Amino acid sequence: MSRFWSPIVKKLEPYVPGEQPKLQNLTKLNTNENPFGPSPKALEAMKQVLGDELRLYPDPNADSLRETIAEYYGLTAQQVFVGNGSDEVLAHVFHALFQHNHPLLFPDITYSFYPVYCQLYGIPYEQIPLDDSFAIAVSDYRGINGGIIFPNPNAPTGRLLPLDEIRRLLEVNTETVVVVDEAYIDFGGESAVGLIDQFPNLLVTQTLSKSRSLAGLRVGLALGSPELIEALERVKNSFNSYPLDRLALAGAEAAFKDQAYFEQCRQAVIDERDRLRVALNKRGFESLPSAANFLFCRHRDLAAETVAAALREDGVIVRHFRHSRIENYLRITVGTAEQHERLLASFDRHFGAK
Ligand SMILES: Cc1ncc(COP(=O)(O)O)c(C=O)c1O
Repeated sequence: MSRFWSPIVKKLEPYVPGEQPKLQNLTKLNTNENPFGPSPKALEAMKQVLGDELRLYPDPNADSLRETIAEYYGLTAQQVFVGNGSDEVLAHVFHALFQHNHPLLFPDITYSFYPVYCQLYGIPYEQIPLDDSFAIAVSDYRGINGGIIFPNPNAPTGRLLPLDEIRRLLEVNTETVVVVDEAYIDFGGESAVGLIDQFPNLLVTQTLSKSRSLAGLRVGLALGSPELIEALERVKNSFNSYPLDRLALAGAEAAFKDQAYFEQCRQAVIDERDRLRVALNKRGFESLPSAANFLFCRHRDLAAETVAAALREDGVIVRHFRHSRIENYLRITVGTAEQHERLLASFDRHFGAK
């Protein structure tokens, strides 16, 4: 705390991302990165940019990337916004579309960045409890509100809300913006993008960090009606005109065009997720149904914290949240078969045939 800080900074409780330890030989299954590398075509496109043209600013409007994404989803470029990771896109969403007098609604167990943005921008909010099976009950999202946001699939639970439920929610919430954060949608869900033309208050956000293996490049996007996108552009152009650099623009565009690699990678993650679930079940874990690239699971006898600490001794890092309702759960990112072997061997070494 310093007397030089502004009143808002004094009150902030910043988001704490999953750790990125600087140790060698880690089996890093804690931040939902994709274990398979980025598309070779994306890497090649970025190499092409490494040269004299880096002395020039990138396209502030990211026109070419926005057109590529628009074509991919059957939208127009005016319905696409891009930013420096979906965290930045979400920050602009909160600032541009949620600053109202009524509370923003989101689940009690969800992406823990949401309350942080609320604090940063002074947005009142209400957390709506997930039901006993950790599912979102859309009938709870009614009445006067300043907007609604939830991830689909939800994080850290991995549970998917079916598209007809989202439609039901939109039918009764027409007066404020509804954001579906689809960071993990490619691992098993149907995108709400198809509802955009019917619901001008629907905004869908996505990221290239997960299914396109580009967490290190920082590219996120939002899809919605031109009026919602214009609000985001207005905030972006009052903040940073060039959120995506030349490497990010080139890499992201090539990644979107490499459909074959994308399909192959996401299928590999889905297959590994199923194998990991079976292996964990055999060891006494039960996991929630996951449509994401992670499993949210608990052990029938062992405390989650004990398991996380034991795995860590062997360099296997998984995520444990010290929040009520979920303190006995671990969120384990789906990795490669080899990473899973290390995870399971570590578990067996510590806990035998528990
Ligand atoms: C639900 C959800 N939304 C958004 C993000 C942010 O992703 P990024 O900023 O890497 O695009 C994450 C990251 O883990 C997430 O879990």
